[in-house]
Amino acid sequence: MNRFDDQTVLVTGGTGGQGSSHVRAFHAEGANVVIGDIDADRGAALADELGTRARFTLLDVTDEDSWSAAVQAAESAFGGLNVLINNAGVQNPPAPIERTDQATWSRILDINLTGTFLGIKVAAPALRRAAGGAIVNIASTMGLGGTAQYAPYVASKWAVRGLTRTAALELGRDGIRVNTIHPGVIATPFIQEPAAGATAAIADFYSPEPFAIPRLGEPTDVTRLLLFLASSDASFVTGSEYVIDGGLLLGPALQAETA
Ligand SMILES: NC(=O)c1ccc[n+]([C@@H]2O[C@H](COP(=O)([O-])OP(=O)(O)OC[C@H]3O[C@@H](n4cnc5c(N)ncnc54)[C@H](O)[C@@H]3O)[C@@H](O)[C@H]2O)c1
Repeated sequence: MNRFDDQTVLVTGGTGGQGSSHVRAFHAEGANVVIGDIDADRGAALADELGTRARFTLLDVTDEDSWSAAVQAAESAFGGLNVLINNAGVQNPPAPIERTDQATWSRILDINLTGTFLGIKVAAPALRRAAGGAIVNIASTMGLGGTAQYAPYVASKWAVRGLTRTAALELGRDGIRVNTIHPGVIATPFIQEPAAGATAAIADFYSPEPFAIPRLGEPTDVTRLLLFLASSDASFVTGSEYVIDGGLLLGPALQAETA
């Protein structure tokens, strides 16, 4: 018996560095997986690789009709929807607030925040039809503090926290739990490739050396926590926020010379 047998899971940004790890793990633990993403080539390839119990659906999280089609695809392919992972997200090209144009601000807020709002809005009735389930929103450690040059991203991830808490209150009586994960710096294209409009990647100027656990996170680190939160093992956990950052937020792990 697997943890997610007979359950259907929709992962947004499901072809990305973390999303594809989540999709593979849910599938390995018995779930039917619906891979939602704007990258149709990668989505079709991942669905083909997994074979049975996997579908790709072209999902732009900023578009409510696209959400309706994705949830409908999950229900018609597998008979219901039990888990939604709001994982799709983008970063802004680094720039101080004074040099951040409104189009950039709006694009980041649209994908990271409005996309999560629409996901909860459209998926909630389906989760209710399935007699309850779980939603996990992927925010960021940047949603817990300030980060110079990343105002749109920081603001979007802070806002996801308020959305999570509100949704948890609204949906708890229907057996739907809603939680947030705050990953630190995870080795994916997100940090290894420049954001749209940027020339440098975060990995070019960011070192994990001061972290308590001095390495970048791997997608599977996040996946393991995510699967716990989405599973019945976490049946009394809702409205909560889980940091997974190797100690990044603790501050620098200065090593005193003791010898
Ligand atoms: N990698 C990190 O260091 C890090 C740290 C903290 C939080 N996060 C968050 O983790 C999540 C996953 O990021 P990742 O590291 O896997 O990055 P990634 O760039 O590898 O994946 C992001 C995915 O989102 C998809 N996407 C972008 N716009 C979309 C849209 N409008 N609709 C649907 N899908 C869309 C992309 O096609 C891609 O597959 C994001 O929410 C990100 O903000 C990442």
